[in-house]
Amino acid sequence: MAPTVSCFLLAVLFSASCQVITSSDQMCMEKEDNKTYSCENLGLREIPDTLPNTTEYLEFGFNFLPAIQNTTFSRLMDLIFLDLTRCQINWIHENTFQSHHQLNTIVLTGNPLIFMAETSLNGPRSLKHLFLIQTGISNLEFIPVHNLDNLESLYLGSNHISSITLPEKFPTQNLKVLDFQNNAIHYFSRKDINALEATNLSLNFDGNDIKGIEPGAFHSKVFQSLRFGGTLDLSVILKGLQNSTTQSLWLGTYEDTKNQDLMPAMLEGLCEMSVESINLQKHHFSNLSSTTFQCFTRLQELDLTATHLKELPSGIQGMNSLRKLVLNVNNFDQLCQINAASFPSLTDLYIKGNLKSLDLGTGCLEKLKNLQRLDLSHSDIKASDCCTLSLKGLHHLQYLNLSYNMPIGLQNKAFKECPKLEVLDLAFTHLDVSAAQSPFQNLPLLQTLNLSHCHLETSNQHLLEGLLGLRQLNLEGNHFQDGRIAMTNLLQTVGNVEVLILSCCELVSIDQHAFRSLQKLSHIDLSHNSLMESSIDALSPLKGLYLNLASNSIRILPPHLLPILSQQSTINLSHNPLDCTCSNGRFIAWYQENLQRLEDPEKTVCASPPSLRGVKLSEVKLSCRMTAVGIFFLVTFAFLFIILLVFLVKFLLRWKYQHI
Ligand SMILES: *[C@@H]1O[C@H](CO)[C@@H](O)[C@H](O)[C@H]1NC(C)=O
Ligand SMILES: *[C@@H]1O[C@H](CO)[C@@H](O)[C@H](O)[C@H]1NC(C)=O
Ligand SMILES: *[C@@H]1O[C@H](CO)[C@@H](O)[C@H](O)[C@H]1NC(C)=O
Ligand SMILES: *[C@@H]1O[C@H](CO)[C@@H](O)[C@H](O)[C@H]1NC(C)=O
Ligand SMILES: *[C@@H]1O[C@H](CO)[C@@H](O)[C@H](O)[C@H]1NC(C)=O
Ligand SMILES: *[C@@H]1O[C@H](CO)[C@@H](O)[C@H](O)[C@H]1NC(C)=O
Ligand SMILES: *[C@@H]1O[C@H](CO)[C@@H](O)[C@H](O)[C@H]1NC(C)=O
Repeated sequence: MAPTVSCFLLAVLFSASCQVITSSDQMCMEKEDNKTYSCENLGLREIPDTLPNTTEYLEFGFNFLPAIQNTTFSRLMDLIFLDLTRCQINWIHENTFQSHHQLNTIVLTGNPLIFMAETSLNGPRSLKHLFLIQTGISNLEFIPVHNLDNLESLYLGSNHISSITLPEKFPTQNLKVLDFQNNAIHYFSRKDINALEATNLSLNFDGNDIKGIEPGAFHSKVFQSLRFGGTLDLSVILKGLQNSTTQSLWLGTYEDTKNQDLMPAMLEGLCEMSVESINLQKHHFSNLSSTTFQCFTRLQELDLTATHLKELPSGIQGMNSLRKLVLNVNNFDQLCQINAASFPSLTDLYIKGNLKSLDLGTGCLEKLKNLQRLDLSHSDIKASDCCTLSLKGLHHLQYLNLSYNMPIGLQNKAFKECPKLEVLDLAFTHLDVSAAQSPFQNLPLLQTLNLSHCHLETSNQHLLEGLLGLRQLNLEGNHFQDGRIAMTNLLQTVGNVEVLILSCCELVSIDQHAFRSLQKLSHIDLSHNSLMESSIDALSPLKGLYLNLASNSIRILPPHLLPILSQQSTINLSHNPLDCTCSNGRFIAWYQENLQRLEDPEKTVCASPPSLRGVKLSEVKLSCRMTAVGIFFLVTFAFLFIILLVFLVKFLLRWKYQHI
């Protein structure tokens, strides 16, 4: 029995050591020469010798280092960033980082820490970021306070911390971020909060159900941001924050939290504090009325994403400071239901992902004289005649997003109410444009127009008329008649375009003069079409282009096209059925000489002949010139042929004379 057991043990030991050896053979990945390395998940038990002493950024997560000490990283004295996520670290001994003066970030996330020596973080001159997420900490006394004077962010999420009472000598004057999410903190005392000396701190208490705050705990404190996501009773928070000042207050909740519905009285605490921006996402309001908003009057930003709203009450008063309103993922039927007139100073309005089909109505936003950004994407908007009446009065609008909606009909000068538009996104919204009209007239400032997948009538040559300032035009996924861009086409009116996307347009050919008006073009994407080499002629007037021809049907590039490619700066020819025989020899030679301007050489491979299929073009070796032996045979053969011919003629002549 005993021998079997010891054999078995030996086998286990042997296989275990084998595993370690094989895995430590694996190489760390170099991300930046001599500086940045990733050695994640390699089963390592120590710093491999292959890492140079000059390493500055090291990702070493998912290895095995149960105890770390002054010898563990002693060779890597230039470390700036060290990530030790989930390395099963239990012990951090004295002076582990004693010689790492540059170190500014240590990530210890996911290590079941049992012990950190008092001097374990000594050494770094300016340790700024410390991650102790999921380390099993239940008491802040566990964190050694030595050498943390420059600490800016401390992450303590997903632990068992119930009190934020910091160790007595804990330096907080430089702290900017203190993150306690998902702990078991239920109460703040005045003393706890007073100990946080830093002003402009960002504090995160998401996922702690706060049940009580000592009155006056936050009195005259100033914060950059406060997060209390997932708190069941918001009135506790809002009362507790009396007399505090906060730039941004996040009070949203989550799907799985059973919150109390928000009653107007619960929000009264807001009147006693100063806050610029508030987020209440996913809450339910009950008794929603204008009094709900009575303490919101000083707000500049309000986010009511997914708050189950069908409308905003009329009669909301005093919200003249509000600049940004987010109403994404709600249940409006009609745009007028947001009662926009209550928010006369709005510059940004987001109604994205509405859960019902949103009707734009008439003049619903008319009072928003200062509106600059309007996002109505993904909102099932259907409109047969957009957008003169629906965007009435929005004379300062610069950004309009109508992407991912239902079919929209556009008449002549459809956006004439918004002459200042700079960005217009209509991607994935089917556009119905009456023949021979230009819906985009009167948009001289428009710079970016996204018309991808819009089912455009591209034969309408007036479609883009009036877009004199246009720089970026995306026509991806639209189709052209017979798969051909003709000599006269809709691009002729947009001579200032710099970036043009024509990918996935099922293009078969492009007329030689199709792009002649696009003198400023610097980027053209023609990928994912069925273009052949003959279409490259169309690029001859253009120079210095980023040119994407990936995934087309280009086989052979004859020599007269090579100068056209040579005058471009970057070319992507990947995924084309390129021919690697001598008939393409000149191109292949050109390709190998111009590798610096070619993108994706790994995916630029031969399709034929079968013997070279899949070989990278950069590595193909063709011998298309005659060899000396070949020339010798050719000459000999010609010589013999001439002699034969002479003899034949002689013979024929003789035969002829003999028969006279
Ligand atoms: C990286 O180190 C090697 C050897 O010390 C040196 O030859 C090389 O120039 C270094 N590379 C960079 C980018 O510093
Ligand atoms: C590590 O610490 C031990 C004991 O404190 C000391 O003897 C040794 O010299 C230190 N090693 C290095 C590399 O500093
Ligand atoms: C507060 O912090 C934020 C970001 O952390 C920074 O942008 C802002 O300038 C700071 N404000 C003051 C007054 O220090
Ligand atoms: C808030 O400040 C006011 C005026 O300074 C003061 O009277 C009041 O007691 C403070 N409230 C709390 C809870 O500290
Ligand atoms: C418009 O909205 C869509 C979807 O919300 C987004 O993907 C796109 O980036 C937005 N467009 C612009 C120009 O920001
Ligand atoms: C449309 O194009 C613009 C500019 O290229 C881009 O920012 C935006 O995200 C695109 N929209 C969608 C829905 O992809
Ligand atoms: C080359 O073009 C293809 C298709 O558009 C794209 O997937 C690939 O990322 C491009 N290569 C590079 C290096 O950008």
